[in-house]
Amino acid sequence: MKSYVYSRAPINIALIKYWGKKDEKEVLPYQPSISLSLDVFETHTTIKRIEGPFEFTINGLKDEDMAKQVKHFLKNFTHGNLDQISVATTNSGPTAAGLASSASGYAALATAANAFFETKFTLSKLSEITRKGSGSAIRSLLPNCVKWDVDGLIYPIEWSFPKAKMGIIIVSDKKKKISSREAMKISILTSPLYDHWVKQSFKDAKHFETFNDKHQFSELGELIEQNALLMHQVCETSSPKIQFLTDISYQIIHHIQDKRKQKTYEAYVTMDAGPNVKVLCLKDDMQTIEKDLKQLGHDIIWSNIDQKGAVILNEV
Ligand code: PMV
Repeated sequence: MKSYVYSRAPINIALIKYWGKKDEKEVLPYQPSISLSLDVFETHTTIKRIEGPFEFTINGLKDEDMAKQVKHFLKNFTHGNLDQISVATTNSGPTAAGLASSASGYAALATAANAFFETKFTLSKLSEITRKGSGSAIRSLLPNCVKWDVDGLIYPIEWSFPKAKMGIIIVSDKKKKISSREAMKISILTSPLYDHWVKQSFKDAKHFETFNDKHQFSELGELIEQNALLMHQVCETSSPKIQFLTDISYQIIHHIQDKRKQKTYEAYVTMDAGPNVKVLCLKDDMQTIEKDLKQLGHDIIWSNIDQKGAVILNEV
């Protein structure tokens, strides 16, 4: 066992979404998903030996519920007592607001634990463990563009758009009312669109790879926007209704779609389990988009595609 390990992991935003577990225990998804890892809002995690009982802090504060989850997760790496271990994690973005903090969080934790307990798990074993923390976290283990397939494993995709940028418009940074874990269970059981969604996701993942290979940005953009909107339709037709998008989210979405139709700029939207809107565009349009959204009363946080993935920054 090491005495100190420090890791970092990126958030990832799915362009083809995961929404449903076929196998709850193993966390195997009903559909393939494809994401981009981003270099904003990353998580940094430290595991170290201390005198005294197990300690866990997130952004400098104790959180008993999360401490239990983290302790349970660490059992994947050691059968030993977890006393005299401290885990401190810092998210540089909002926590649990549909901005992938659990993805970067579990990827950073799994990577740190693998080094701290010297388990030397391969990427496929580490993937198996990480996805049990949070499904989408598996994609934060790798940089750039990543596919999480229905076999449970991750595959790097060669992203064809070096000029692509993602922007995040924060509509609300409050903690979401329902976890994605609970929400997707409800969708599987109650949404009349669920079967259609699964079939469509397979087609979308295939088309994504084709458009990416052929460098067809506009086609890829339309595809990812439709994929996200269908996921939200699945949520909104669930019973009870799951409403992540607010009136403000829809106002932004429609505004961006209008600007695209008017050829003011080319941007496509994607949204996760929260009201925030993410935009995919090319570098040349950044300034126009930023100015236009400012007029609408919104700031946009730009991000590059992450090139590092989940890594150890320091260990002793
Ligand atoms: O991994 P979870 O349980 O946080 O679910 C994430 C689900 C979405 O963010 C909505 C889609 C995705 O593929 O990331």
